[in-house]
Amino acid sequence: MVRLLTLAAHTLALLKAAATATATPDVAGCPDSDCSFSQVPLTQANLTASKVQQDLGPLLSKKTNIYGSDDSRYEHAIGRWQAFAAPQFTVIVEVAAEDDVSKVVKYANENSVPFYTVNRAHGGARAQGDFSGIQINVVPLSGIQINPDGKTARFQGGAYDQEAIDVLWEQGYVGTTGSCGCVGMMGPGLGGGHGRYQGLHGLISDNLIKMDVVLASGESVEVSSESHPDLFWAMQGAGHNFGIVTSFEMKIHPRVVDTWFFRNWVFTQDKLEDLFEALNKINGNGTQPGEMAVVFGFFYLDPTFSETEAVIWWSMHYAGPQEDAEPYFEPLNNLGHINVTEGNVPYTQIPHATRTGEDDPLCDHGMNHVIRTAGLQVYNITTQREIYNLFNQNIKDHPEFAASYIVMEAYSVEAVKKVDHSASAFSQRDENLLVQISVTYPPEPSLDETALEWAGKTRDLFNEGQPGRLPSTYINYGLGDESLESIYGYEPWRLEKLRGLKHKYDPENRFRYYVPIIRD
Ligand SMILES: Cc1cc2nc3c(=O)[nH]c(=O)nc-3n(C[C@H](O)[C@H](O)[C@H](O)COP(=O)(O)OP(=O)(O)OC[C@H]3O[C@@H](n4cnc5c(N)ncnc54)[C@H](O)[C@@H]3O)c2cc1C
Ligand SMILES: *[C@@H]1O[C@H](CO)[C@@H](O)[C@H](O)[C@H]1NC(C)=O
Ligand SMILES: *[C@@H]1O[C@H](CO)[C@@H](O)[C@H](O)[C@H]1NC(C)=O
Ligand SMILES: *[C@@H]1O[C@H](CO)[C@@H](O)[C@H](O)[C@H]1NC(C)=O
Ligand SMILES: *[C@@H]1O[C@H](CO)[C@@H](O)[C@H](O)[C@H]1NC(C)=O
Repeated sequence: MVRLLTLAAHTLALLKAAATATATPDVAGCPDSDCSFSQVPLTQANLTASKVQQDLGPLLSKKTNIYGSDDSRYEHAIGRWQAFAAPQFTVIVEVAAEDDVSKVVKYANENSVPFYTVNRAHGGARAQGDFSGIQINVVPLSGIQINPDGKTARFQGGAYDQEAIDVLWEQGYVGTTGSCGCVGMMGPGLGGGHGRYQGLHGLISDNLIKMDVVLASGESVEVSSESHPDLFWAMQGAGHNFGIVTSFEMKIHPRVVDTWFFRNWVFTQDKLEDLFEALNKINGNGTQPGEMAVVFGFFYLDPTFSETEAVIWWSMHYAGPQEDAEPYFEPLNNLGHINVTEGNVPYTQIPHATRTGEDDPLCDHGMNHVIRTAGLQVYNITTQREIYNLFNQNIKDHPEFAASYIVMEAYSVEAVKKVDHSASAFSQRDENLLVQISVTYPPEPSLDETALEWAGKTRDLFNEGQPGRLPSTYINYGLGDESLESIYGYEPWRLEKLRGLKHKYDPENRFRYYVPIIRD
């Protein structure tokens, strides 16, 4: 239901929250019943690209491009990983300078036209399908500069993983990025951001020092522990709901090692139980050391091995030389694989060597991905078998789903667990394993229901396999229609605080197309 925001209601909500906030950290909350939001009025101007060019063009930097569906660049600009519930873009504005962003937002607001930020276009959330309006494309804002102190670097809002990995490594540093070469820094980072250096240095969001942010109103603000600290808290975990990051400063770290060691194994299903027993030992219920950066794998159909039975592909990547890595890798070496690949390589080559490079099939655009996810502490062996069998059954029943996969990731959580749980909006520091199913198929609406059913069943099996634990949904791995508590945290003060901050910083709920906190 849409209720109108009134100053009185707002003040009341703040007072009430202040009165009940004693048990919880500095909450300027907004209990569900008191929270009200208005939405963008419906009298939108029907803006064409040429009209936007005429009005806005002269105000923006010279290299900024504005175009619509009749332009040859349009198809590329709307191309995305997630075809299921794709946003509609009427006009594309490719911003060439950071301060263009605020001008575009103000102009869109004046014309009551929704806007949505796009960087590397791998966002999977379902609410994106509700969007129609102006695309603010931040891809050109890709600068990365290491600060003279060698402890921090400044990234523009369109920086992305492989770029960040390369730029830092070449100059003797590493940073927290996502694992996949193709995704943006901020897409993952505003929701936490998992990656290979998290065991040593924490999540992407844990390393943020400050951000330059354009708010829903178009106003530009600096967000840090000193400036708008409440917003800083929110944007480290729930950031997509609050603003557009035009640049950010992040901690960086000396690179320490010259090479990483990886090994990729392929197993047939008869090894499944032994494999997951071994994986539980290696992970040690979340005690995998920082250097043993990640142990991850897939169930997927690989016709070079079998046309009917998914293979189990697994990979380990260690931050250092092979001799230090081998003791950790040992439990997988003797299970009886059917294929193996390995190498000592510079960190920059690790994404591609482990099938997560920017040009690898995982990053490809254009397919439907019905994604469901869970957070786990240990693998339940019986559950893993059920999920595997269900995978084969569905592929058999629906050959259209042949490109589907289940990905299971055990990053080291050593440094992640050291960060105070209440220090940011990221609420999932107790999860040791991230699992996700993607039912993958060429867009075909008649298959959606079946895809949702299989994906949901798989997620439920994962969760039923951990009796007594509450479901968790990593914001960047689900469709965003899961329970808000499973995404943003079960402690009531978390959602109260987030709703209060939405009220304060985005009272018209303009940022509502990626896992919205306010659902109307
Ligand atoms: C192949 C693949 C690999 C992945 N690997 C990882 C991984 O290793 N670690 C991990 O944590 N997650 C990973 N994810 C999930 C990933 O975090 C999300 O898909 C993320 O949304 C992708 O960001 P993007 O820039 O590629 O996509 P986009 O669709 O361009 O952006 C995603 C969302 O972030 C918003 N956004 C982007 N840039 C900004 C900005 N500057 N300011 C404000 N909002 C912004 C967009 O508006 C959108 O809502 C992966 C996903 C895929 C498909
Ligand atoms: C926009 O177009 C629709 C129909 O396409 C029309 O009903 C509406 O009045 C137009 N709005 C404005 C502000 O011109
Ligand atoms: C894993 O560790 C958590 C504490 O971090 C504990 O609560 C849980 O019981 C452990 N699980 C297993 C299976 O040992
Ligand atoms: C199998 O091993 C070969 C040789 O190491 C490698 O080139 C190939 O990519 C491997 N296949 C898979 C699916 O891992
Ligand atoms: C594994 O999952 C089943 C439900 O599928 C559950 O009954 C069992 O207790 C789980 N085992 C453990 C060790 O949690």
